[in-house]
Amino acid sequence: MATHMNTPQKQKREILDLHSHVLPGVDHGSLNIQDTKKLLSQASKAGITHILATSHFYPSKHSVGTFCKKRDAVFEEAQSMAKEEGITLFKGAEIQLNPGLSTRRNLKALTLNNTNFLLIEMPFFTWNNLLFNEINLLLSKGYKLIIAHIERYPKKQIDQLMKFDVYGQINAYSLFTPIFSARAKYSIKKGYVNFIGSDAHIYNYKIAYSGFEKARKKLKRIYPQLMDNAFSLISNSEE
Ligand SMILES: [Fe+2]
Repeated sequence: MATHMNTPQKQKREILDLHSHVLPGVDHGSLNIQDTKKLLSQASKAGITHILATSHFYPSKHSVGTFCKKRDAVFEEAQSMAKEEGITLFKGAEIQLNPGLSTRRNLKALTLNNTNFLLIEMPFFTWNNLLFNEINLLLSKGYKLIIAHIERYPKKQIDQLMKFDVYGQINAYSLFTPIFSARAKYSIKKGYVNFIGSDAHIYNYKIAYSGFEKARKKLKRIYPQLMDNAFSLISNSEE
């Protein structure tokens, strides 16, 4: 998949965080509204203007319906809190890939801002053909897949995964940590990276957002393209 998407859109000085865990009580990202306040305030200080709230969706634990009920129940309160910080919040999910995921009903409800993009987290056990087959099944249903934090996985695995028609996302703060920074640079060089996110949780949000700020300078050459990609994505919403 090329670094550049088809319809880049200029949004100068606006910054979109494509991957975050800011919603209260939906996953371990933010345990309550006070945590959410801290996360949003720090994001605002880092200059972030738009956030996709991508709480963890684990197919072995949740149905799409129960997850959405939980997420949607807190979204409005978090959204108005975000507004006070000058941030626009959008709905999404970080979906762990499991064999059988493609057969789940109403997966569309887990897309990023009601587009056809799904943010996919690869499991930490060894990837097998069942998983790769699941990627093909999701693609055949018309979903576009963004693989979350591709720098977490060994280069060989990522080379294999990125042969599929999928997009890659890196966590900004990984650019400043020992092993992950080498992997992130490798993926950038190979043209695997289309999106950047903070992956902010309450336990790492200070590092996550300061990393996001520093990434702007570090990725001078591709950073504007990564932002164009992100804004193009949210503007493709069907709502
Ligand atoms: Fe995440």
